[in-house]
Amino acid sequence: MTDTTKQDRVLIFDTTLRDGEQSPGATMSHSEKLEIAELLDDMGVDIIEAGFPIASEGDFQAVSEIAQRSKRSVICGLARAQLPDIDRAWEAVKHAERPRIHTFIGTSPLHRAIPNLTMDEMANRIHETVSHARNLCDNVQWSPMDATRTEHDYLCRVVEIAIKAGATTINIPDTVGYTAPRESADLIRMLIEKVPGADDVVFSTHCHNDLGMATANSLAAVEAGARQIECTINGLGERAGNTALEEVVMALKVRHDIMPYDTRIDTTKIMGISRRVSQVSGFPVQFNKAIVGKNAFAHESGIHQDGMLKNAETFEIMRPKDVGLAETSLVLGKHSGRAALRDKLNQLGYELGDNQLKDVFVRFKALADRKKEVYEDDLIALMRDAAGDEQNDRIQVKSLRVVCGTEGPQTATLTMVVDGTEKSVETTGDGPVDATFKAIKEIFPTTARLQLYQVHAVTEGTDAQATVSVRLEEDGRIATGQSSDTDTVVASANAYVNALNRLLVRREKSAPGDDVKTVSYRDAGQ
Ligand code: KIV
Ligand code: ZN
Repeated sequence: MTDTTKQDRVLIFDTTLRDGEQSPGATMSHSEKLEIAELLDDMGVDIIEAGFPIASEGDFQAVSEIAQRSKRSVICGLARAQLPDIDRAWEAVKHAERPRIHTFIGTSPLHRAIPNLTMDEMANRIHETVSHARNLCDNVQWSPMDATRTEHDYLCRVVEIAIKAGATTINIPDTVGYTAPRESADLIRMLIEKVPGADDVVFSTHCHNDLGMATANSLAAVEAGARQIECTINGLGERAGNTALEEVVMALKVRHDIMPYDTRIDTTKIMGISRRVSQVSGFPVQFNKAIVGKNAFAHESGIHQDGMLKNAETFEIMRPKDVGLAETSLVLGKHSGRAALRDKLNQLGYELGDNQLKDVFVRFKALADRKKEVYEDDLIALMRDAAGDEQNDRIQVKSLRVVCGTEGPQTATLTMVVDGTEKSVETTGDGPVDATFKAIKEIFPTTARLQLYQVHAVTEGTDAQATVSVRLEEDGRIATGQSSDTDTVVASANAYVNALNRLLVRREKSAPGDDVKTVSYRDAGQ
């Protein structure tokens, strides 16, 4: 058996960088992908699906660099059931200490109709492609896409073929999030019981959350014998997303009494990576999201607080620090010094060099002047903005003045620095944000379309910072910018300009990982 021998060990296969990143709008840059892969490796993820190498030159570059840098994790590249795809995936992962090729084809009646293959033709294709992958790499995963809507007899037949051809992991995807826990378990159990050779491979579960059952379905599959869970950080993924890593890992940890399976995830790293994935993907985490939501450990009601003070276990099934949340979120004020700031940032998982601390301290002081109390979430927003400010941004906001009133229209007077030259305009709009965005476009005209504009308060109170996310699209290239400020309009202007700068990098330099995907995994089998 590959990768696992212990019956109680569940492998965590993270696909944030493939299934997560492929969801519209969640595109990450090359350097962001490398950073997320490093965090996943550090937290103890067993297998990282780093991308889909044939999809674009950028995907290829990202997977191969992640493969070369990987420390502990197996690095996996996705490939359709086509020889050139498989060769490309192998080229990308082959320098990893522990490479894996993941190849797949849609096996349900609806998916078989796309490449227009008969059942026999598809079976032959599976044999040919899995054998080819296995000749290149001794760690091969095979997936029958839409397995939960595939006829059982046919599913058993093709799984057997894949095992005979050399697959070492058989992954069972619930591609459209259609299954339910009992059915998920029954399917895995049936395959293990019926398919010859099933004992020699690891069965894996890959669930989507369209009916909100991805976590339950994955855990049910484990109880039936699956020993690998495919998941993403924050449940990132198309439509309703994939199984959330933090949910399955914490469920196995907290309810070890009834689900006695172990992972090797360092759960104290969960919050840090959750925040980072949210930042780089531009997908905010819903407040009441299990484990990583802002309210997941907040006890607002009087009764709860009273119980919590007497005994935390009254209402708490896990400790905040188990997932990497510091005990208290009230932090610093304008009299706090550099050492206190460094200390708090360390607790939040940020290691800063002296120069970096100097820069962040200036930002912190500016914020503390405007805001009485600076909370953890303020510091996290501040760190994000500091990391996002590239030295070589082509466009910067220099000053912004907006005049609002009940008798519109609103007026924005904006000065920006574009390629070193200062430019100013005054525009009117339907509200302060509209006027500001029009001013930006007047100074720097583009064909970029605004795909998303989102505002949320970082903390409570009227002096709270607002975090604004802006997503822009141009010729299929997508870039997300974020910024926080106590002034929502200033945050909006900075987030827009931030997204614009990222789009320009993608357009002009065509940096690895930033280009448009040319192939989608939906074209499976074609
Ligand atoms: O959901 C799915 O079927 C997939 C496959 C490519 C494994 O993501
Ligand atoms: Zn999927």
